[in-house]
Amino acid sequence: MKLLVTGGAGFIGSNFVHYVIANTSHHVTVLDKLTYAGNLESLKGLPSERFRFVKGDIADAALVDELVAEADAVVHYAAESHNDNSLHDPRPFLDTNIIGTYTLIEAARRHGTRFHHISTDEVYGDLELDDPARFTEQTPYNPSSPYSSTKAGSDLLVRAWVRSFGLQATISNCSNNYGPYQHVEKFIPRQITNVIDGVRPKLYGKGENVRDWIHANDHSSAVLTILDKGEIGETYLIGADGEQNNKDVVELILEEMGQPRDAYDHVVDRPGHDLRYAIDSTKLRNELGWKPEYSDFEAGLAATIAWYRENEGWWRPQKAATEAKYKEQGQ
Ligand code: NAD
Ligand code: DAU
Repeated sequence: MKLLVTGGAGFIGSNFVHYVIANTSHHVTVLDKLTYAGNLESLKGLPSERFRFVKGDIADAALVDELVAEADAVVHYAAESHNDNSLHDPRPFLDTNIIGTYTLIEAARRHGTRFHHISTDEVYGDLELDDPARFTEQTPYNPSSPYSSTKAGSDLLVRAWVRSFGLQATISNCSNNYGPYQHVEKFIPRQITNVIDGVRPKLYGKGENVRDWIHANDHSSAVLTILDKGEIGETYLIGADGEQNNKDVVELILEEMGQPRDAYDHVVDRPGHDLRYAIDSTKLRNELGWKPEYSDFEAGLAATIAWYRENEGWWRPQKAATEAKYKEQGQ
């Protein structure tokens, strides 16, 4: 199969491309604009006979049409992905997440191309800490931030294109990913690289917010499963039962890196900060037979810490500018 992977130079997209090359015989074309979040270094070493990189914008209709025409399937990861950025400058989130997705699904419907849309659990809003409930495919949409509202909007576009135009699409909504190649603006890499730099980790507010962590490789295997066996028009939630509060994660990082568990600072909270995400992935497991492989979060976190220690050349160029931006925000 010839796959077109949008956003393949970003965190989850690049992990997916490596996973596909290692575990299938598909050919991959990556379309990526190389924004601040895209990094060609994340795609180094891939075999040229099975991989091609195209620099471009998913909102460029002519380029998108040409690439979609050549593909058997599109896997759409490209997005503006960081909540904090969306609170300071929402516009790029509308351009990429809404108009970019619209441009891709228009091309996919013209060419009858299979389309898989990558989305997030954040479209469902948040849960109380003591609520036994988890998100399911039936949970009503209730996004909180400019980022999550544009992802929700893009999901609804895909659903409408399926119903109105017969777009051959599936959607997945996944929880928080961790692993290699994640930008240092995000929670786990920010704290690991702070500790490497001798800087204390920064916890927003009280640190009681809960995220449902999944290793990026488990996200990739779930997406391949949906691409292979998913039913057109269906949504699948992806999660690995990885709920942890932020304070516990910071303490684990500090302990694993040989620091006292309380060597962190509390900083100003994120406005509108979602309290808890939790995924019920029963549908994906029961209907498509998927299950995660990385069930030991502490082991996965230790491997991720080792990756950042060993790949300073990958993250160092982004670190100072990222921290300068956070400093301006008091975070
Ligand atoms: P990321 O910010 O690391 O990567 C995004 C990539 O998209 C970058 O390579 C960037 O250059 C590219 N891009 C941005 N705008 C573009 C445009 N207009 N045209 C072409 N390329 C463009 O993001 P990520 O964390 O890897 O997230 C990837 C996808 O997964 C997003 O759709 C996100 O909503 C979704 N998701 C992320 C998580 C998570 O935990 N990070 C969880 C669930 C879903
Ligand atoms: O749930 C899926 C979502 O997970 C994806 O859709 C997003 O693209 C992805 O960025 C992520 O969103 P979060 O906002 O949950 O991730 P982030 O890494 O920004 O923050 C994780 C938690 O850590 C959140 O509760 C905020 C907190 N945090 C974050 C940073 C950067 C801190 O306490 N300190 C920090 O320095």
